[in-house]
Amino acid sequence: MNPFKFGTIVQGEFFTDRIEELEHVRQLLDSENHLVLISPRRFGKSSLIAKALQQTGRPSITIDFMKVLSTEDLAAQLLSGVFRLHKMEKLKHLLTHFRIAPNISYNPMTEGWDISFMPLMEKASVALEDAMGLLQKITAPENRLIVVLDEFQEVNEISPSLAKQLRAIIQHQEGLNYVFMGSQESMMNEIFEKKKSPFYHFGQRMNLKKIPYADFFSYITSRLPEMAQEEKEKIATEILQFTNVHPYYSQQLAAATYNIIMYSHPTGNAVSEAIKQQVDEHDLDYERLWISMKRTDRKILTHLARKSNPLTDRSMPTSTTFSAIKRLVKQGYVIKTAAYELEDPFFGEWILQDKANM
Ligand SMILES: Nc1ncnc2c1ncn2[C@@H]1O[C@H](COP(=O)(O)OP(=O)(O)OP(=O)(O)O)[C@@H](O)[C@H]1O
Ligand SMILES: [Mg+2]
Repeated sequence: MNPFKFGTIVQGEFFTDRIEELEHVRQLLDSENHLVLISPRRFGKSSLIAKALQQTGRPSITIDFMKVLSTEDLAAQLLSGVFRLHKMEKLKHLLTHFRIAPNISYNPMTEGWDISFMPLMEKASVALEDAMGLLQKITAPENRLIVVLDEFQEVNEISPSLAKQLRAIIQHQEGLNYVFMGSQESMMNEIFEKKKSPFYHFGQRMNLKKIPYADFFSYITSRLPEMAQEEKEKIATEILQFTNVHPYYSQQLAAATYNIIMYSHPTGNAVSEAIKQQVDEHDLDYERLWISMKRTDRKILTHLARKSNPLTDRSMPTSTTFSAIKRLVKQGYVIKTAAYELEDPFFGEWILQDKANM
């Protein structure tokens, strides 16, 4: 089995480091505060929180806002979460207080309950209030409930008034913690940093960074197939240099390199072969993306692919470059860490190779 994993939440042996971050999350969840966890895509937010929840052993409900269709659907999903934590017998009398009755049916396939509300239009907020109210009722002082709202940057897409409704309810609740998670830094910033936003300065903010180089380095070397230690270190260095220690892409490239070493007996450099393979695989997607982009954006991405600073480009006014970078960050193609960098290093490689066709 490939010892590297990417694409989903990583747990157990696939999860490395994050010791300080886990401690920070734990302290916060021990208090009455709410957590706002932000990072670029695929830095490991969901994995970190999953691990923290496992460590606390407290009851939790996780909602993925990407999968929430409407306000009443959010109410239904929260209820489903409650039903996973408690027996029907306990909940029955609490549900009689609901002003709008949910549809509840037992699903023998999943051995769980299917819960939904009919489309409610303006009454959806009533269903949400009741579902959120139930959370307050089931939390216990010695075992406080944690509610995780993942991909929270989607909140305004679900309904323009949802953020306001949530905030109005949550601010009166006690004895439970909320964790708001999101990527697309700018959207999360708008939600939590804009004075006019209902969630302005709500909760404790934590920006998740990359995993430290040394930890990732030993994570990779310890999992590569049997070979001289020097050789392993060379491979790990090449991988991390290419990915700039991005958690997801480092695991992806390590997995591809592992496969090449194990199954195709490379003649040349295994990491280079793995990179080439990944770039070829995404060739069509990258081309489509490239064609759809403005020329200014292409110039900036080319600079970043070459590891040069786009702001030194004299062929465009600095203000143009700056607003283009901001736009690319918002769209997720560029991320800001210590400096601006390309989100996807394989796309960077593609740009360098295909440069002549620009
Ligand atoms: N602690 C870790 N140790 C090793 N690899 C990790 C760790 N955290 C994240 N990764 C790598 O990054 C990938 C993405 O992690 P995760 O899904 O938790 O990130 P995310 O920030 O929630 O992403 P998204 O923005 O897509 O929601 C994982 O599949 C894994 O390959
Ligand atoms: Mg996630």
